[in-house]
Amino acid sequence: MSERLPPLSDIPADLVCAADYQRYAAQHMSANARAYIDTAAADGLSHAANLAAYARWQLAPRVLADVAGGHCRLSLFGLELSHPLLLAPVAYQKLVHADGERAAAYAASQLGSSMVVSTLASTTLEDIAAVSQSPQWFQLYLQHDRAFSADLVHRAEAAGYCALVLTVDAPLAGVRNGEQRAGFSLPPGVFAANLAAMAPYQPQLAAGQSMVFDGLMTFAPRWDDIAWLRSMTRLPILLKGVLSPEDARLALQHGVDGLIVSNHGGRTLDGVPASLDALPRIADAVAGSMPLLLDGGIRRGSDILKALALGARAVLIGRPYLHALATAGALGVAHLLRVLQEELEVAMALSGCRTLDDISPQLLWPR
Ligand SMILES: Cc1cc2nc3c(=O)[nH]c(=O)nc-3n(C[C@H](O)[C@H](O)[C@H](O)COP(=O)(O)O)c2cc1C
Repeated sequence: MSERLPPLSDIPADLVCAADYQRYAAQHMSANARAYIDTAAADGLSHAANLAAYARWQLAPRVLADVAGGHCRLSLFGLELSHPLLLAPVAYQKLVHADGERAAAYAASQLGSSMVVSTLASTTLEDIAAVSQSPQWFQLYLQHDRAFSADLVHRAEAAGYCALVLTVDAPLAGVRNGEQRAGFSLPPGVFAANLAAMAPYQPQLAAGQSMVFDGLMTFAPRWDDIAWLRSMTRLPILLKGVLSPEDARLALQHGVDGLIVSNHGGRTLDGVPASLDALPRIADAVAGSMPLLLDGGIRRGSDILKALALGARAVLIGRPYLHALATAGALGVAHLLRVLQEELEVAMALSGCRTLDDISPQLLWPR
Protein backbone atom coordinates (compact mmCIF):
# COMPACT_ATOMS: atom_id res chain seq x y z
CA MET A 1 0.00 0.00 0.00
CA SER A 2 1.55 3.34 -0.98
CA GLU A 3 -1.12 5.76 0.32
CA ARG A 4 -1.03 6.46 4.04
CA LEU A 5 -4.41 7.09 5.69
CA PRO A 6 -4.65 9.87 8.30
CA PRO A 7 -4.94 8.85 11.97
CA LEU A 8 -8.42 7.89 13.20
CA SER A 9 -10.21 10.09 15.72
CA ASP A 10 -12.49 7.29 17.00
CA ILE A 11 -11.66 3.69 17.83
CA PRO A 12 -13.57 1.31 15.49
CA ALA A 13 -15.56 -1.49 17.13
CA ASP A 14 -13.38 -4.20 15.58
CA LEU A 15 -10.18 -2.81 17.09
CA VAL A 16 -9.96 -4.73 20.34
CA CYS A 17 -6.40 -5.98 20.91
CA ALA A 18 -2.75 -5.31 20.08
CA ALA A 19 -2.84 -7.51 16.96
CA ASP A 20 -5.74 -5.42 15.62
CA TYR A 21 -3.58 -2.31 15.96
CA GLN A 22 -0.87 -3.97 13.89
CA ARG A 23 -3.45 -4.73 11.19
CA TYR A 24 -4.82 -1.18 11.21
CA ALA A 25 -1.41 0.46 11.41
CA ALA A 26 -0.37 -1.01 8.07
CA GLN A 27 -2.72 1.53 6.45
CA HIS A 28 -1.65 4.46 8.62
CA MET A 29 2.12 4.15 8.20
CA SER A 30 4.25 4.97 5.17
CA ALA A 31 6.21 2.12 3.56
CA ASN A 32 9.33 3.86 4.92
CA ALA A 33 8.00 3.81 8.50
CA ARG A 34 6.88 0.20 8.18
CA ALA A 35 10.39 -0.74 7.07
CA TYR A 36 11.82 0.87 10.20
CA ILE A 37 9.31 -0.34 12.77
CA ASP A 38 8.10 -3.72 11.58
CA THR A 39 11.35 -5.32 10.43
CA ALA A 40 14.02 -6.83 12.65
CA ALA A 41 17.71 -7.71 12.28
CA ALA A 42 18.90 -10.12 9.58
CA ASP A 43 16.48 -13.07 9.29
CA GLY A 44 14.20 -11.96 12.12
CA LEU A 45 14.89 -15.12 14.15
CA SER A 46 15.05 -13.40 17.51
CA HIS A 47 11.98 -11.26 16.85
CA ALA A 48 10.07 -14.42 15.87
CA ALA A 49 11.41 -16.16 18.98
CA ASN A 50 10.08 -13.32 21.16
CA LEU A 51 6.62 -13.64 19.62
CA ALA A 52 6.55 -17.45 19.95
CA ALA A 53 7.92 -17.71 23.49
CA TYR A 54 4.73 -16.88 25.43
CA ALA A 55 2.61 -19.59 23.78
CA ARG A 56 5.01 -22.26 25.01
CA TRP A 57 3.99 -21.47 28.59
CA GLN A 58 0.51 -22.29 29.85
CA LEU A 59 -1.17 -20.88 32.91
CA ALA A 60 -2.28 -23.03 35.83
CA PRO A 61 -5.41 -21.21 37.00
CA ARG A 62 -6.79 -21.38 40.54
CA VAL A 63 -10.53 -21.14 41.21
CA LEU A 64 -12.75 -19.91 44.05
CA ALA A 65 -10.14 -17.43 45.29
CA ASP A 66 -11.33 -14.17 46.86
CA VAL A 67 -9.84 -11.49 44.63
CA ALA A 68 -12.38 -8.74 45.36
CA GLY A 69 -10.72 -5.35 45.79
CA GLY A 70 -7.66 -6.50 43.85
CA HIS A 71 -5.48 -4.32 41.65
CA CYS A 72 -2.23 -4.41 39.70
CA ARG A 73 -0.61 -1.22 41.00
CA LEU A 74 3.09 -0.94 41.82
CA SER A 75 5.86 1.57 42.56
CA LEU A 76 9.08 1.32 40.59
CA PHE A 77 12.09 3.67 40.68
CA GLY A 78 10.06 6.81 41.25
CA LEU A 79 7.02 5.78 39.18
CA GLU A 80 3.58 5.17 40.70
CA LEU A 81 2.00 2.85 38.14
CA SER A 82 -1.58 1.57 37.78
CA HIS A 83 -0.22 -1.58 36.14
CA PRO A 84 3.19 -3.16 35.40
CA LEU A 85 3.33 -2.01 31.78
CA LEU A 86 5.60 0.73 30.41
CA LEU A 87 6.21 2.08 26.92
CA ALA A 88 9.69 0.99 25.80
CA PRO A 89 12.13 3.56 24.40
CA VAL A 90 11.47 3.80 20.67
CA ALA A 91 13.33 6.26 18.44
CA TYR A 92 11.87 8.72 15.91
CA GLN A 93 8.17 8.44 16.73
CA LYS A 94 7.30 11.34 14.41
CA LEU A 95 7.79 8.79 11.63
CA VAL A 96 4.29 7.48 12.37
CA HIS A 97 2.42 10.50 13.78
CA ALA A 98 2.98 14.25 13.67
CA ASP A 99 2.75 14.50 17.49
CA GLY A 100 5.22 11.63 17.92
CA GLU A 101 6.62 11.11 21.42
CA ARG A 102 4.49 13.86 22.94
CA ALA A 103 1.29 11.97 22.09
CA ALA A 104 2.61 8.63 23.37
CA ALA A 105 4.03 10.11 26.59
CA TYR A 106 0.83 12.03 27.29
CA ALA A 107 -1.31 8.91 26.76
CA ALA A 108 0.93 6.85 29.03
CA SER A 109 0.78 9.41 31.81
CA GLN A 110 -3.03 9.53 31.59
CA LEU A 111 -3.32 5.75 31.85
CA GLY A 112 -1.10 5.25 34.90
CA SER A 113 1.84 4.12 32.77
CA SER A 114 5.00 5.93 31.67
CA MET A 115 7.17 6.13 28.57
CA VAL A 116 10.91 5.51 28.68
CA VAL A 117 12.13 8.37 26.52
CA SER A 118 14.73 7.44 23.91
CA THR A 119 17.95 9.37 23.37
CA LEU A 120 16.91 9.18 19.70
CA ALA A 121 13.46 10.72 20.25
CA SER A 122 12.31 13.04 17.48
CA THR A 123 11.17 15.53 20.15
CA THR A 124 13.44 16.93 22.85
CA LEU A 125 13.38 15.25 26.24
CA GLU A 126 12.32 18.60 27.76
CA ASP A 127 9.29 18.94 25.45
CA ILE A 128 8.24 15.36 26.20
CA ALA A 129 8.55 15.92 29.96
CA ALA A 130 6.44 19.05 29.63
CA VAL A 131 3.39 17.17 28.29
CA SER A 132 3.66 14.17 30.57
CA GLN A 133 1.53 14.37 33.71
CA SER A 134 3.83 12.04 35.68
CA PRO A 135 7.56 11.29 35.91
CA GLN A 136 9.45 9.31 33.29
CA TRP A 137 12.73 7.47 32.79
CA PHE A 138 15.33 8.54 30.26
CA GLN A 139 17.02 5.97 27.99
CA LEU A 140 20.65 6.81 27.37
CA TYR A 141 22.77 5.84 24.38
CA LEU A 142 26.32 6.85 25.20
CA GLN A 143 27.62 9.13 22.45
CA HIS A 144 31.09 9.41 20.95
CA ASP A 145 31.22 12.80 22.66
CA ARG A 146 31.32 11.92 26.37
CA ALA A 147 30.83 15.52 27.50
CA PHE A 148 27.67 15.61 25.40
CA SER A 149 26.51 12.32 26.99
CA ALA A 150 27.07 13.81 30.44
CA ASP A 151 25.08 16.84 29.39
CA LEU A 152 22.19 14.58 28.31
CA VAL A 153 22.15 13.04 31.78
CA HIS A 154 22.10 16.47 33.43
CA ARG A 155 19.35 17.65 31.09
CA ALA A 156 17.24 14.59 31.95
CA GLU A 157 17.73 15.17 35.67
CA ALA A 158 16.85 18.85 35.33
CA ALA A 159 13.70 17.99 33.37
CA GLY A 160 12.47 15.71 36.18
CA TYR A 161 13.28 12.24 34.83
CA CYS A 162 13.51 9.81 37.75
CA ALA A 163 15.69 6.97 36.40
CA LEU A 164 18.30 6.35 33.71
CA VAL A 165 18.08 3.34 31.39
CA LEU A 166 21.46 2.70 29.78
CA THR A 167 20.93 0.59 26.68
CA VAL A 168 23.87 -1.79 26.39
CA ASP A 169 22.91 -4.15 23.59
CA ALA A 170 23.08 -1.72 20.68
CA PRO A 171 26.47 0.05 20.57
CA LEU A 172 25.96 -0.35 16.81
CA ALA A 173 22.89 -1.11 14.75
CA GLY A 174 22.14 -4.72 13.87
CA VAL A 175 22.23 -6.03 10.33
CA ARG A 176 18.99 -4.39 9.22
CA ASN A 177 18.35 -6.10 5.90
CA GLY A 178 14.66 -5.15 5.93
CA GLU A 179 15.53 -1.45 6.14
CA GLN A 180 18.24 -1.85 3.52
CA ARG A 181 15.94 -3.54 1.00
CA ALA A 182 13.30 -0.85 1.49
CA GLY A 183 15.86 1.95 1.21
CA PHE A 184 14.77 3.34 4.59
CA SER A 185 15.79 6.90 5.43
CA LEU A 186 14.57 9.50 7.88
CA PRO A 187 12.24 11.95 6.12
CA PRO A 188 12.77 15.73 6.42
CA GLY A 189 11.74 17.00 9.85
CA VAL A 190 12.37 13.71 11.66
CA PHE A 191 15.71 13.68 13.45
CA ALA A 192 17.27 12.93 16.84
CA ALA A 193 16.16 16.16 18.52
CA ASN A 194 18.19 15.58 21.70
CA LEU A 195 21.39 15.28 19.69
CA ALA A 196 20.83 18.22 17.34
CA ALA A 197 23.64 20.26 18.91
CA MET A 198 26.22 17.46 18.76
CA ALA A 199 28.74 17.17 15.92
CA PRO A 200 28.14 13.85 14.14
CA TYR A 201 30.64 11.04 14.54
CA GLN A 202 33.22 11.12 11.75
CA PRO A 203 35.37 8.02 11.80
CA GLN A 204 39.04 8.48 10.98
CA LEU A 205 39.97 5.03 9.74
CA ALA A 206 43.26 4.04 8.20
CA ALA A 207 43.31 1.62 5.27
CA GLY A 208 42.40 -1.87 6.46
CA GLN A 209 40.83 -0.72 9.73
CA SER A 210 37.39 -1.96 10.70
CA MET A 211 34.44 0.41 11.07
CA VAL A 212 33.20 -1.89 13.83
CA PHE A 213 36.33 -2.53 15.94
CA ASP A 214 38.33 0.62 15.15
CA GLY A 215 35.32 2.92 14.76
CA LEU A 216 32.00 2.42 16.54
CA MET A 217 33.19 0.06 19.30
CA THR A 218 35.88 2.48 20.45
CA PHE A 219 33.26 4.59 22.22
CA ALA A 220 30.79 1.81 23.11
CA PRO A 221 29.86 1.65 26.81
CA ARG A 222 31.94 -0.64 29.03
CA TRP A 223 31.63 -1.80 32.63
CA ASP A 224 33.79 1.03 33.98
CA ASP A 225 31.33 3.53 32.49
CA ILE A 226 28.81 2.54 35.17
CA ALA A 227 31.03 4.18 37.79
CA TRP A 228 31.41 7.21 35.51
CA LEU A 229 27.62 7.47 35.17
CA ARG A 230 27.14 6.96 38.90
CA SER A 231 29.58 9.76 39.65
CA MET A 232 27.47 12.30 37.82
CA THR A 233 23.90 11.41 38.77
CA ARG A 234 21.82 10.56 41.79
CA LEU A 235 19.26 8.76 39.61
CA PRO A 236 18.83 4.98 39.72
CA ILE A 237 20.58 3.26 36.80
CA LEU A 238 19.04 0.35 34.89
CA LEU A 239 20.76 -1.59 32.12
CA LYS A 240 18.61 -2.49 29.11
CA GLY A 241 19.54 -5.36 26.85
CA VAL A 242 20.93 -7.97 29.23
CA LEU A 243 20.40 -11.66 28.32
CA SER A 244 23.30 -13.39 30.08
CA PRO A 245 23.23 -14.41 33.77
CA GLU A 246 26.95 -13.60 33.99
CA ASP A 247 26.28 -10.04 32.85
CA ALA A 248 23.45 -9.81 35.37
CA ARG A 249 25.89 -10.77 38.15
CA LEU A 250 28.42 -8.21 36.88
CA ALA A 251 25.68 -5.59 36.87
CA LEU A 252 25.01 -6.34 40.53
CA GLN A 253 28.73 -6.05 41.32
CA HIS A 254 28.86 -2.69 39.55
CA GLY A 255 26.00 -1.33 41.63
CA VAL A 256 23.39 -1.23 38.88
CA ASP A 257 19.88 -0.76 40.31
CA GLY A 258 17.78 -2.78 37.86
CA LEU A 259 17.85 -4.69 34.58
CA ILE A 260 15.66 -4.80 31.51
CA VAL A 261 15.94 -8.28 30.05
CA SER A 262 15.65 -7.59 26.35
CA ASN A 263 16.98 -8.50 22.92
CA HIS A 264 15.97 -5.08 21.58
CA GLY A 265 12.92 -6.52 19.88
CA GLY A 266 15.22 -8.69 17.74
CA ARG A 267 16.73 -5.58 16.13
CA THR A 268 20.40 -5.94 17.08
CA LEU A 269 22.04 -9.39 17.16
CA ASP A 270 19.85 -11.91 15.35
CA GLY A 271 20.00 -15.48 16.65
CA VAL A 272 19.87 -14.69 20.37
CA PRO A 273 17.09 -16.25 22.46
CA ALA A 274 13.73 -14.75 23.21
CA SER A 275 13.98 -12.41 26.18
CA LEU A 276 11.31 -14.51 27.95
CA ASP A 277 13.54 -17.57 27.60
CA ALA A 278 16.50 -15.68 29.10
CA LEU A 279 14.50 -14.37 32.06
CA PRO A 280 14.46 -17.42 34.41
CA ARG A 281 18.25 -17.79 34.38
CA ILE A 282 18.70 -14.08 35.05
CA ALA A 283 16.15 -14.22 37.85
CA ASP A 284 18.18 -17.08 39.38
CA ALA A 285 21.41 -15.11 38.98
CA VAL A 286 20.20 -11.98 40.76
CA ALA A 287 18.07 -13.90 43.29
CA GLY A 288 15.79 -10.97 44.08
CA SER A 289 18.67 -8.49 44.62
CA MET A 290 17.39 -6.07 41.98
CA PRO A 291 14.14 -5.58 40.05
CA LEU A 292 14.00 -7.19 36.62
CA LEU A 293 11.92 -5.85 33.78
CA LEU A 294 11.40 -7.51 30.41
CA ASP A 295 10.44 -6.51 26.89
CA GLY A 296 10.06 -8.28 23.55
CA GLY A 297 6.91 -9.84 22.13
CA ILE A 298 4.43 -8.75 24.81
CA ARG A 299 1.08 -8.62 22.98
CA ARG A 300 -1.48 -9.79 25.57
CA GLY A 301 -2.28 -9.30 29.25
CA SER A 302 -1.65 -13.02 29.70
CA ASP A 303 1.87 -12.48 28.27
CA ILE A 304 2.46 -9.94 31.03
CA LEU A 305 1.26 -12.44 33.63
CA LYS A 306 3.63 -15.11 32.29
CA ALA A 307 6.59 -12.72 32.36
CA LEU A 308 5.78 -11.72 35.94
CA ALA A 309 5.43 -15.39 36.93
CA LEU A 310 8.93 -16.00 35.52
CA GLY A 311 10.46 -13.21 37.58
CA ALA A 312 9.80 -9.82 35.94
CA ARG A 313 8.52 -6.96 38.09
CA ALA A 314 7.14 -5.13 35.05
CA VAL A 315 7.24 -5.29 31.24
CA LEU A 316 7.50 -2.88 28.33
CA ILE A 317 5.99 -2.84 24.85
CA GLY A 318 7.63 -1.40 21.74
CA ARG A 319 6.04 -1.98 18.33
CA PRO A 320 2.44 -2.35 19.60
CA TYR A 321 2.26 1.23 20.83
CA LEU A 322 3.85 2.57 17.64
CA HIS A 323 1.04 0.80 15.78
CA ALA A 324 -1.51 2.39 18.09
CA LEU A 325 0.13 5.81 17.70
CA ALA A 326 0.05 5.51 13.90
CA THR A 327 -3.58 4.35 13.93
CA ALA A 328 -5.12 6.86 16.32
CA GLY A 329 -2.46 9.05 17.97
CA ALA A 330 -2.65 9.58 21.74
CA LEU A 331 -6.16 8.11 21.76
CA GLY A 332 -4.86 4.87 20.23
CA VAL A 333 -1.98 4.55 22.71
CA ALA A 334 -4.32 5.21 25.65
CA HIS A 335 -6.82 2.67 24.31
CA LEU A 336 -4.12 0.03 23.83
CA LEU A 337 -2.85 0.53 27.39
CA ARG A 338 -6.40 0.24 28.73
CA VAL A 339 -6.97 -2.96 26.73
CA LEU A 340 -3.75 -4.56 27.98
CA GLN A 341 -4.45 -3.57 31.58
CA GLU A 342 -7.94 -5.08 31.34
CA GLU A 343 -6.53 -8.25 29.81
CA LEU A 344 -4.00 -8.49 32.65
CA GLU A 345 -6.73 -7.96 35.26
CA VAL A 346 -8.86 -10.70 33.68
CA ALA A 347 -5.89 -13.08 33.59
CA MET A 348 -4.99 -12.28 37.23
CA ALA A 349 -8.56 -12.70 38.49
CA LEU A 350 -9.05 -15.99 36.64
CA SER A 351 -5.74 -17.25 38.04
CA GLY A 352 -6.66 -16.39 41.60
CA CYS A 353 -4.30 -13.40 41.93
CA ARG A 354 -5.56 -10.39 43.86
CA THR A 355 -2.41 -8.29 43.54
CA LEU A 356 0.95 -8.58 41.82
CA ASP A 357 2.37 -10.09 45.03
CA ASP A 358 0.22 -13.19 44.41
CA ILE A 359 1.98 -13.90 41.10
CA SER A 360 4.58 -16.67 41.39
CA PRO A 361 6.07 -19.48 39.28
CA GLN A 362 3.24 -21.72 40.58
CA LEU A 363 0.98 -19.91 38.13
CA LEU A 364 2.70 -21.68 35.26
CA TRP A 365 1.69 -25.17 34.20
CA PRO A 366 4.75 -27.41 34.66
CA ARG A 367 6.45 -28.39 31.39
C1 LIG B 1 11.28 1.11 15.79
C2 LIG B 1 12.02 0.79 17.05
C3 LIG B 1 12.93 1.70 17.58
C4 LIG B 1 13.59 1.42 18.77
N1 LIG B 1 14.41 2.36 19.32
C5 LIG B 1 15.02 2.10 20.51
C6 LIG B 1 15.81 3.10 21.15
O1 LIG B 1 15.94 4.22 20.66
N2 LIG B 1 16.42 2.77 22.32
C7 LIG B 1 16.28 1.52 22.90
O2 LIG B 1 16.86 1.26 23.96
N3 LIG B 1 15.51 0.58 22.32
C8 LIG B 1 14.87 0.83 21.16
N4 LIG B 1 14.06 -0.11 20.60
C9 LIG B 1 13.83 -1.41 21.31
C10 LIG B 1 12.61 -1.29 22.24
O3 LIG B 1 12.91 -0.46 23.35
C11 LIG B 1 12.18 -2.66 22.80
O4 LIG B 1 13.30 -3.31 23.35
C12 LIG B 1 11.52 -3.58 21.76
O5 LIG B 1 10.76 -2.84 20.83
C13 LIG B 1 10.61 -4.57 22.48
O6 LIG B 1 10.07 -5.50 21.58
P1 LIG B 1 8.59 -5.40 20.95
O7 LIG B 1 8.67 -4.38 19.86
O8 LIG B 1 8.34 -6.79 20.47
O9 LIG B 1 7.62 -4.99 22.04
C14 LIG B 1 13.37 0.17 19.42
C15 LIG B 1 12.44 -0.73 18.89
C16 LIG B 1 11.76 -0.43 17.73
C17 LIG B 1 10.73 -1.42 17.22
